[in-house]
Amino acid sequence: MISKTLNPFPKDFLWGAASAAYQVEGAWNEDGKGVSNWDEFVRIPGKTFKGTTGDIAVDHYHRYKEDVQLMKEMGLKAYRFSVAWTRIFPNGKGEINPKGLEFYHNLINELKENNIEPILTLYHWDLPQALQDEYGGWESRRIIEDFTNYSVTLFKHFGDRVKYWVSLNEQNIFTGLGYRMAAHPPGVKDEKLFYQVNHHANLANANVIKEFRKYVPDGKIGPSFAYSPAYALTANPKDILAAENAEELNSHWWMDVYAWGKYPKAAWTYLESTGLAPTIEEGDLELLSEGIPDFMGLNYYQTHTFEENPFEGGVSQGEMNTSGKKGTSKHSGLPGGFKTATNPNLKRTNWDWNIDPDGLRIALRRITSRYDLPVLISENGLGEYDKVEADDVINDDYRIEFIQSHVKAIQGAVSDGVEVLGYCVWSFTDLLSWLNGFQKRYGFVYVNQHEEGEHDLRRIKKKSFYWYKEIIESNGAKL
Ligand code: BG6
Repeated sequence: MISKTLNPFPKDFLWGAASAAYQVEGAWNEDGKGVSNWDEFVRIPGKTFKGTTGDIAVDHYHRYKEDVQLMKEMGLKAYRFSVAWTRIFPNGKGEINPKGLEFYHNLINELKENNIEPILTLYHWDLPQALQDEYGGWESRRIIEDFTNYSVTLFKHFGDRVKYWVSLNEQNIFTGLGYRMAAHPPGVKDEKLFYQVNHHANLANANVIKEFRKYVPDGKIGPSFAYSPAYALTANPKDILAAENAEELNSHWWMDVYAWGKYPKAAWTYLESTGLAPTIEEGDLELLSEGIPDFMGLNYYQTHTFEENPFEGGVSQGEMNTSGKKGTSKHSGLPGGFKTATNPNLKRTNWDWNIDPDGLRIALRRITSRYDLPVLISENGLGEYDKVEADDVINDDYRIEFIQSHVKAIQGAVSDGVEVLGYCVWSFTDLLSWLNGFQKRYGFVYVNQHEEGEHDLRRIKKKSFYWYKEIIESNGAKL
């Protein structure tokens, strides 16, 4: 906890990188794939940056072999990817599409042959549109059965080779942006419905984990949570309380359910008093307590700082910066509860995300102290503009600096006794950033793809590619 020297990384540490089907695959209507909610949503004018879609994305569907070769060259130990539900079940349920299974069989085999551990995410936001149309998707408890059936299909087909599984990716984000802010599909703003949808997602998550034990008894599974630890702006107890409120409503509300199968008290009491608490049916709490994960998946990008927010005239919904123009985001909050504040100690990216490596150590420590579960860092990375210079050189020193400082923070946490299974940098290749187009780049490998025009999608290794290769080779010793 307080030491001048840091412990080395564990021998079998999973140095990895991550992606998601909709953001990399493309081939949106090929080989029998069905339509997802994102395939539809991106076609609504004004929803994404310059109307970008994942129709082609970075064409990983056709170029996965080339991408895996690059991973091999880098020495990557693990690759986290998601399965597009609509490739397996074009309508979300019913007949299996053999071509869909074939693609992931091939990808998994390719990874295994190159000594890369596959980490499979069951759900990274691309819901079959047919289920949204039929019963509102996550709005109905019927989703539990369909999501379980889809997941079990994957357990049966891939469980012999895939040992690390992520159940839901960032449930807090897809429910929040989908049902509170209308920024993700289905584009709804309904606070009450948001909490109900989220409860269904909790049940589906727990049920799938429960089933997993039967089919992949030697595997590990957990959800990936987008955790932004809450800080108080000042030592004024009013600000401390605001930060506590935020931590409880923005984080414990999810992680307590994953780890303990129950909702946190203060948040529940508040939501019940406002009529926003979800309806819980008989057997729900029992199911939640039966679906405890093997690890907490942590997607860490930044921390948020909070201060007091008055009931009267307090700040509520803010604004996201999806343009890459620094300083265009606006503070958000819950009147009476908390509001975000600018942390004077932190620099920000061009998309106004706080850069805070110590926050990662804090996140890891808080998860360990509260839940005592191992942590898989399933995402962390820097979204920035990249410039291709002469001879296809990309000097992304800012990304190296970002990842380096975060890896040091992980080592700090490891030295504090946190069990960290691995670190998946977001992302391996550049990819489509849901609302921010292609200009917000995350990859170690540049892909020549842009918002407008047709491009050759060629892959170019960035400076960070070679840097991470060395980190992996030295198991983190060459920081
Ligand atoms: C996480 C998601 O929220 O953050 C990824 O799991 C996403 O899918 C990543 O791309 C970065 O967010 P953004 O908005 O910059 O693409």
